[in-house]
Parts: sequence; C-alpha cells; structure tokens
Amino acid sequence: MTSHIFTNIVYLISALLFILGLKGLNSPETARRGQKMAALGMTMAIIGTLIQHEVVTYEWIIVGLVIGSIVGIGIAAWTPMTKMPERTALSHAFGALAAALVGVAEYYHGQDLNTVRMSAIGSEVMLGSLTFTGSMMAFGKLQGILPGSPWTYKGQNVFNVSLLAVIALIVIILVFFPSTSFLFYLGLVLALTFGVMLILPIGAADMPTVISILNSYAGISAALLGFALNNKILIIAGALDGASGFILSIIMCRAMNRSFTNVLFGAFGKITPPVDGAAAPEDTGNKQVHSGTPKEAAEIFKNSKSVIIVPGYGMAAAQAQHNVRELADILKAQGTDVKYAIHPVAGRMPGHMNVLLAEANVPYDVLFDMDDINPEFPDADVALVIGANDVTNPAARHDTASPIYGMPILDVDKAKHVMVVKRSMNPGFAGIENELYFNDRTMMVFGDAKTVVGNITKELNDLK
Ligand code: TAP
Repeated sequence: MTSHIFTNIVYLISALLFILGLKGLNSPETARRGQKMAALGMTMAIIGTLIQHEVVTYEWIIVGLVIGSIVGIGIAAWTPMTKMPERTALSHAFGALAAALVGVAEYYHGQDLNTVRMSAIGSEVMLGSLTFTGSMMAFGKLQGILPGSPWTYKGQNVFNVSLLAVIALIVIILVFFPSTSFLFYLGLVLALTFGVMLILPIGAADMPTVISILNSYAGISAALLGFALNNKILIIAGALDGASGFILSIIMCRAMNRSFTNVLFGAFGKITPPVDGAAAPEDTGNKQVHSGTPKEAAEIFKNSKSVIIVPGYGMAAAQAQHNVRELADILKAQGTDVKYAIHPVAGRMPGHMNVLLAEANVPYDVLFDMDDINPEFPDADVALVIGANDVTNPAARHDTASPIYGMPILDVDKAKHVMVVKRSMNPGFAGIENELYFNDRTMMVFGDAKTVVGNITKELNDLK
C-alpha cells in the first residue's frame, strides 16, 4: 500500500471520528466520549499527514510538536473553567495565525499559483490574519487588558465595510495577477488591521458569542488552506469547525435574545449602567431586601418537598459544585425531590454548568434545560439560586428599557420560596440590578457560594 492510499484511509477514519465527536457533544452524557473521539481523530489526521512522502525532514516537525504539546497541555491543565472564553480566543488566534503563515509561505514559494490556488491562498491568508488580530482583541477585552466597553466613532461601519471591500478587491486582483506581491502583503496588513477594527465596537458582554464567530472564521480559513494544499482532512475539519462555530453563535444569540448582525457588527454589547435611575448596586433605595442566615435556609429546606437548584457563573467562580452536590445528597436522603435548572447561557460558555456539575458527579437525569424546567417552578418549594444573576432577572420579561429585555429566563420568581446565594448586591455580567432580589418571597444568603452552601449543609445535618 502506498503512503498516499494509507494517508487517505487514515483521513477518512479521522473525518468519521470528527463527525461522531461533534455528535457526542450534543448531550452532556456523551460529551466526554465525543471529545475523546475528536481528539483521536485529530491524532490520526496528524499521523496521516506526517507519513506523506512530501515530508522532507522530521527534525523541525518534532521540535514543533514537542513545544506545541507542552504549551497545549500546560494551558489545558492550568486554565480555570471560568477563563474558558479567554482560552478559546487564544487557541483560535494561534490556529488562524498558523493557517495564515502557511498560506504566506505557499505564496512566497510561488509555485503553481493558478486561479483556484491563488483564490484559496488569498482568501485564506486574509481571513486567517483578521481572525488572528480579532481573536487577540477578544482575548484582551475578556482578560481586562483592553477596555471592555465598545469603542465607536462616526462612520465606523462605513469605514469597516470599505476596508473589507478593499481587501476583497486585492484578493480578486491577485487571482488574475498573482505576481503583484506588494498587493499581497498590503492585503495582509489591511486584514490584520481589519481584525482590530472589527472587534473595537463590540462590548465585552458579547465577546463569548464573538469568539464563537471567530472560531467559525478560523475553521473556514483552515478549509480554504486545505484547498490550497490539496489536503482533504484540512478541508473537512475546517468546514466542520466553520459550520459548528457559526451554528453555536446563532444558538447563543437566540438564548440571549440578541440579534446576530448586532453582535457581528458591534456597538450594541455595551455593558450598561443601571437604567432609569435605578439604584446603584450597593444602594437599594427604598426597596426591601430580605437576607437570611444558612441556619434559616436549612430550616426552610428541612420542610421542603421539592427543590430546584439554579447554578450560575458564581458557582463556577467559587468552585462550589461539589458542595452543591453534597447539599443535594442530604436533601434527597430526607426525601426531597431535587432538580437542576440549566439556562443555555448560564456561566461564561455554552455547557459551562453541565461540565461543572458532571465534574461533581451530579447525575445527568436531574439536569433540566430551561424550557423543560420552567413549568415546574410554581410547584417548587424552593428555587435555590447559586451565583446566577442575569438568567433569573424577571426584568427580561417586561422591562423594555433593560439591556436583557427579551432574553429567555428561568422562572425562579414563581417558586414558593426563592433563595439567592451571592456575595453582595453587585450585578452580574449584564451590569444591571436584579429585581428578583426585592421580591417578598426572596431570601438573600450573602457570602461565597462554597462557604454558604457548605454552611447550609452543616446546619441541615444538625437539624436531623
Ligand atoms: P451572572 O449574571 O454573571 O451573575 C453571576 C453572579 O455570581 C454575580 O452576580 C456575582 O454576584 C455572583 N458571584 C460571583 N462570584 C461568586 C462567589 N464566589 N460566590 C457567590 N456568588 C458569586 O451569571 P449568570 O446568571 O450565570 O449569567 C450569565 C451571564 O453571562 C448572562 O448575562 C449571559 O448573557 C452572559 N453570557 C453568557 C454566555 C454563555 S454562552 N454562557 C455568553 C455570553 C454572555 P456577587 O459579586 O455579589 O457575588
């Protein structure tokens, strides 16, 4: 069997594994297996590529593999779950940069720059370059290195669209006149600039969605590179990445009731200060907030037949998932029905809560999506909100001035008792006050989620 046929067989198996991997990611139950399948597919794709006869020498490839693996393992091991959007932004940036650099090298060699190849190389390098700087900007905004608020100026959209048109024109000219190398490098610089300009008007609040869109661009860039290099697995993997990133962005926009085009073109994701003269986070004005102690919370739990737990970003930040499971175990042992309500954008990335709860061995069959659990809140004795804020804010239903107006929320306010565990009256990601906290049936139990949930568990144990 020639290495060529062997490579194609390996690529075919990799492609199958990628597709099965993506399918596995559809549900928390199969997500781990899906992840492993995709990783195996990628390992096979790398092996298939390395045994091709075109490889002249392996030394530098091995050096790259070793350095890349060390950096990759390091990042994966040390990045906390709450920093996943930042990590994802960086990996897209590197992926897009790699695709763009390979494209530049192909152009530099100047071999066989026919119409098809030049179209692929030109578009790929431009898309890869703008994805690189765009992803670095997104990383900077999320990490707080750059200001998170949108940066806008008059005529911004016209400028951006014109810049994109010039880049597209350069690619078209290059297809017909591939040897005009100054245009190629000018296009490269303009594409790098465009990536920065594209992200400037987008607020940090929309960054996780933007990252998903950039993921899609990086995938398309890799697929185009596959056409330039005549590498089938790059085309398949890039197309899968491009399409899934795009679909995910649309799902995220729907879950936040945000227009996809608004997120894409920016200046709408501004983190808004409290609206309509509403109270500043720490100043609750005349509105009453009822706060309680873990002991009072435990007493309510003692007499509860059904509890719905609503986890949010704060649970992730506090790493309270194990304590939450311990509390749920005790409740179950006393005969209380315990369910978890998962909002599609709770936390910072899609699936954030599912991953954390799976880590704490919470069974999948007690996790419920928003649409399935919402009708159950009116019958629940307690809705226990742990470090979740925006996804429980009733203002999303009726306050047309609210930046989260129209966002589907978990109907926790309809439960007989609402308990909210958070450290203060500070707002969540959207930067707005939550009217749930002033509800007569709401009891705030202030403190770090891990400590408070641990204390409630202890008190409940003492009540036995
Ligand atoms: P948030 O609205 O961000 O609220 C989290 C709350 O956790 C904060 O109010 C904070 O209050 C509390 N908190 C932080 N650290 C804590 C700790 N150690 N112990 C206890 N509480 C703690 O979170 P959410 O309800 O999960 O909503 C997610 C937000 O992210 C939404 O606005 C959503 O639109 C946005 N978003 C999500 C995604 C995805 S895909 N998940 C994508 C884009 C945007 P204190 O500071 O008072 O403790």
